[in-house]
Amino acid sequence: MTAQQTQGLAGRTALVTGASRGFGRAIATALAQAGAQVTGVARDGARLAALQAELGSGFTPVAADAADAVVAGQLIDRYEPSLIVLAAGASPLSRPLHQQTWQSFSRIWEVDVQQVFHWTREALLKPLAPGSLVIAFSSGAALFGSPLSGGYAGSKATIRFVASYAAEESLRAGLGIRFVSVLPQLTPETELGAAAVAAYAARDGMDVPSFLAARGPSLTPGQAGAAVLDLAAEADGDGSGAYLLAAAGLKELS
Ligand SMILES: NC(=O)c1ccc[n+]([C@@H]2O[C@H](COP(=O)([O-])OP(=O)(O)OC[C@H]3O[C@@H](n4cnc5c(N)ncnc54)[C@H](OP(=O)(O)O)[C@@H]3O)[C@@H](O)[C@H]2O)c1
Repeated sequence: MTAQQTQGLAGRTALVTGASRGFGRAIATALAQAGAQVTGVARDGARLAALQAELGSGFTPVAADAADAVVAGQLIDRYEPSLIVLAAGASPLSRPLHQQTWQSFSRIWEVDVQQVFHWTREALLKPLAPGSLVIAFSSGAALFGSPLSGGYAGSKATIRFVASYAAEESLRAGLGIRFVSVLPQLTPETELGAAAVAAYAARDGMDVPSFLAARGPSLTPGQAGAAVLDLAAEADGDGSGAYLLAAAGLKELS
């Protein structure tokens, strides 16, 4: 962790959804270790309690549904975070289009897009304090598609749009709240990513190690944590932006 990454995080109030595992857990850990007071939201209370045992008083677990509008409003009112990371995400059913049902196809809309909509709306309505930052997790699939994940790619593209619309509203109202989206590359290092990698490898008739070897280094949850610290440490800029996140780091999209 560099001095620049930890700059300004000591005592800062952060809220991370999806904190029970994967990227969200690593992001909550990185923020707590950088001195932020972190509230972590996920449905699995036992995993959150285990993380609190690891991180101590700098981490507050909240077992709740991040896609619930009431949860978003209540937690923003209670904790008044100046940094919100929306990393909760449902796992898509890894099947081709015609083997999806409408319910499986639309699941990511109901969880991920609904979550980003509610929290973004509450952040603007509150409004969060000037200088606050909201980071929404989209996906590289938003650019390249994901034919084995139903509506996943389209919903993740919508999340990128929602973050950019919110940044525009913040600018128009002079709120000084930054809204950015992060588009990670597919990685086998989380439960969600491992299931997708296995499905795409099988579709290509490859074993998982050969499939991964052809793709180069995999993004790790720790790198996602470091990327969030980098975004939090950045100067205000124009308050918007979308960033591809790969093992090589963050790359802003034009
Ligand atoms: N891994 C990849 O390859 C990859 C690539 C691109 C984008 N992404 C995106 O990155 C984000 C994080 O993914 P990940 O790979 O870390 O997934 P993961 O390991 O499966 O973790 C997902 C997290 O989201 C939480 N969650 C799911 N539904 C929730 C809900 N309704 N309310 C609260 N928490 C909920 C889960 O906790 P509970 O089950 O305890 O609720 C868990 O903590 C997702 O938005 C995903 O789409 C991942």
